[in-house]
Amino acid sequence: MTAHEPVRTPASLEKLWKRGTDFLGSELPIMCGAMTWVSDPKLVSLMGNLGAFGVLAAGNMEPDMWADYVDQTRELTDRPFAGNCITIAPNYLKHLDILCEKKVSHIVFAGSIPRGEEVRKAKDSGAKVLCFASTGSIAQRMIEYGADALILEGSEAGGHIGHVSTMVLLQEILFQFPQVPIFVAGGIGTGKMVAHLTLMGAAGAQMGTRFVLAEECNVHKNFKDVFIKSRSREAISTPQYSSKLPVVSVRALNNHAMTHFGDLQLELLERLRKGEIGRQEAQFKVEEYWIGSLRKATMDGDMEHGSLMAGQSVGLVDKVQPLREILEEIVTEADLAVAEVHQRLLG
Ligand SMILES: Cc1cc2nc3c(=O)[nH]c(=O)nc-3n(C[C@H](O)[C@H](O)[C@H](O)COP(=O)(O)O)c2cc1C
Repeated sequence: MTAHEPVRTPASLEKLWKRGTDFLGSELPIMCGAMTWVSDPKLVSLMGNLGAFGVLAAGNMEPDMWADYVDQTRELTDRPFAGNCITIAPNYLKHLDILCEKKVSHIVFAGSIPRGEEVRKAKDSGAKVLCFASTGSIAQRMIEYGADALILEGSEAGGHIGHVSTMVLLQEILFQFPQVPIFVAGGIGTGKMVAHLTLMGAAGAQMGTRFVLAEECNVHKNFKDVFIKSRSREAISTPQYSSKLPVVSVRALNNHAMTHFGDLQLELLERLRKGEIGRQEAQFKVEEYWIGSLRKATMDGDMEHGSLMAGQSVGLVDKVQPLREILEEIVTEADLAVAEVHQRLLG
């Protein structure tokens, strides 16, 4: 086997996974979600080379660096991958322009809700567009805007999150919108779960936390070590203190950076009250805080002042593994799970 021979879908799952693999142009309907500072050209290209699908994270990168990231990924793989655009990042529109100019095959809008014209622009570039949906009404709106697929992400997920659990969104979105492929995210750690989600109608699954523990993932060893020993209940979410400063909740492991976020909100609310800053500037400062503190944790290994963004699925992972082994394990577990269902139904 060559180093990059892809992991393939077994014949038993081909039909079940076809919608997802056709949409992604991959062998497996398994996505590594965008993770700022984490899903870099190395991890994203390796996902593609191994038959899965990676989403390159932009965070709030300088536009030149973002363009370079896309080029670097292309040098490492000729497989499809997606570029992530965070609508609440100050450089968002420039990131989108670059993905369109470079004709990246898939674009994932994240953060909050993209405008209709932004979705159209992405589609006009020839890209397939995926939008996050954290409620049924957002799913409906994104489909109306022209999204080609949805990422149904429940509040169990790591990073910026909505308020509704994956379990409820499956009924509110997956069962209601069969017209577009839906990739489920948030709380998934096993191939057995991927199998059952696809049996329910999902096109595939997106995971973040599990892929942080890929051997080839570039994050600091301290970041991986804390994932290995953390339990599900330790991945908590941040509150919003006032509707005067709407903030997107973040799920991360509890530490000083989480406590400090409370202080930051109070400070920004006070500055808003005094008229020293506007709401948008305050929201940008919040995003800068998360992007900066995530860098401290993932790159510098600062486990106290850095943000330890992680999903509740952190309790389902307990070791670092080569990416190929993770993907093979997911496929083997999924295959077995479908065989078990078959056995239960047909005896
Ligand atoms: C460390 C970390 C950083 C993340 N950064 C981003 C990001 O920049 N853009 C994005 O769309 N999602 C981001 N996410 C969400 C993931 O793409 C994915 O949807 C989520 O991790 C799925 O939930 P899981 O962690 O339970 O697998 C991040 C998640 C983590 C854990």
